[in-house]
Formats: sequence, C-alpha cells, structure tokens
Amino acid sequence: MSKPTVFVTRLIPEKGLDMLREQCAVTVWEDELPPPRDALLREIAGADGLLCLLTDPVDAGVIDAAPKLRVISQMAVGFDNIDIPAATGRGIPVGHTPGVLTGTTADFAFALLMAAARRISEAERFARAGRWKTWGPTLFMGQDVHGATLGIVGMGRIGQAMARRARGFDMRILYTDPSEPDAARDVGAVRVALDDLLAESDFVSLHVPLTADTERLIDRRALARMKPTAILVNTARGPVVDQAALYDALVSGQIAYAALDVTDPEPIAPDDPLLSLDNCLVVPHIASSSVATRTRMAVMAAENLIAGLNGDRLPHCANPQVYA
Ligand code: DGY
Repeated sequence: MSKPTVFVTRLIPEKGLDMLREQCAVTVWEDELPPPRDALLREIAGADGLLCLLTDPVDAGVIDAAPKLRVISQMAVGFDNIDIPAATGRGIPVGHTPGVLTGTTADFAFALLMAAARRISEAERFARAGRWKTWGPTLFMGQDVHGATLGIVGMGRIGQAMARRARGFDMRILYTDPSEPDAARDVGAVRVALDDLLAESDFVSLHVPLTADTERLIDRRALARMKPTAILVNTARGPVVDQAALYDALVSGQIAYAALDVTDPEPIAPDDPLLSLDNCLVVPHIASSSVATRTRMAVMAAENLIAGLNGDRLPHCANPQVYA
C-alpha cells in the first residue's frame, strides 16, 4: 500500500520529522520563511495530511484546495490561523500541542516581566555601547517584582503556571477568566473584573487565546485604566493589544513599559514606532522556544498527524466537534 502524503510547512525539530518519515511520504518546505499562498495551495493539492505552523493561514480556500486532506496538525497550542469551522465542515480533525509548552512559555513570560521591571535590555544596550562610566546611584532604577501585584488575563494552563512563578516572588495575584480553576485558589490568586485588574496591577500579563472576544481586549480604554507605573507583558497573540494605542500609552507615560513576545503583524515592521521606544522590549515570538519544548511540540504534532491518517481520534484535537 502506498504511504500517505504529508506536507510540512517548515523544517521542524528532527525527531518529529523522523516519526513522519517512517510512515508517510513527506514533503518539507525548507525555506526559512513560510510557503507563500500559491506554494501552499500547490503542495497541499495532493496531500493527505498537513503539518502547519502558526505562520500559515489555513483558511477555507486552502482547505478547499486539498480534496484528499484528512488531517491538519498544527505545531502550536494556538490555532487562530486555521479556519476551524471550514475544517470541521469537511470532517477534518485539527491537532494542536497544548500542555507541553506551558512551563516554558510561563518561564519566558516571567523573564519578560523581570526584564521590563529591571530594564535589562536597555541596560545591556547601554553597557555594550560603552556608556558605562561608573556605578551610578540612580542608574537604571527599575521596579521591584517581589511584593508587587500581578494581573493575569486568562487563567488557563499558562496563566496558572505564571501564577505559580509569581507566588515564589511573593506577589499578590489577581486574574480574570470565565472560570475559577482550583489551581488559582491554591496559589491565592483572586478573581476580579478586568477593569479592577487593570487598575490595581503593577504588572499585567496576557494569557488568552486570540478570539473575536479577545481581539483588541487591551485597547485605548483598557490602557487608560492602568497605573502610570504599570508594565504590560504579552506572550499571547499580538492582536489582543491595540498596538497604536499601546504606542501612545508608552509615549505619554500612561503606562511605564511593555514587553512583547508577540506583535501585530508578525514580524513587526523594522520601522514600527514601538521599536524606537526604550520602554518597549520586543522579541520575536520565542516564548516556547527551548530545545526540549520545541522537540516535544514537533513530536506531539507528528503524533496527531499520524493518528489522523490512521483514522484514529487525535490525542489533542482543537475541534473535537468533528467526531460528533
Ligand atoms: C503557541 O504554541 O501557540 C505559541 O504561540 C508558540 O509556541
């Protein structure tokens, strides 16, 4: 019997690719950049399976272009780049990679929080530029993390992991979420309305998926509620924040600092005004990027894909309604 054909939209960690190559005829898009739309449409036309990344817009047009497609597997926990109703309508299960990146992403969100609080990237640029002349009594004074109030927007797995880290720093923890997970109670986190969280927090960290409800959740009005000393950390998705409003808030001193792992669009344009600000730290969407975690994500994505090709239920399915 011939092997199922699979298109992988980028070079992923080898372990995941090896698993696929054992069972499938695999085509990998080897460029550093994602396949352009015409290439994606061409490559997917005869594919039984697609392993994609958050940089690939898998919309209804792409799904329609793949008459044989039986499974889509995304190597990420978020799947806002995939038209889930279109996939479900075609009976195609969509896999994703929840859980394996929780700790790594929370570590990084906390690292961003610390870096912004203590102005680490500014200070590093200063030292490298040869501007360090002496120990300065007021040099790069930042903000204390211990004892401060952290507001977590979205108390899912990563939000909860962030709360556990904050507890170790003796922080007061507030959160907003439609549900009240036991884990939040265990770390003494208090559920409040978003407006109260924004008004009371020294640090606001975003951990919501991108949906119609969370798009531009942090808009001009939300930023206006925050303290002038507040620091915003975004490791969720860029469009959760209104970036033009964020720029204005950072320039006017309405808030003190932002640390962004994600932007809108990605990559951020080199001439984006946010990049001109000392009080804005921007990194290229790397919160889950540890060797171990990216390898686990690739393996999990391969497992989902293989399950779908074998007609088995995906171990981690973003649209379980497809099985109804
Ligand atoms: C995800 O998985 O959704 C992250 O944004 C990338 O690891």
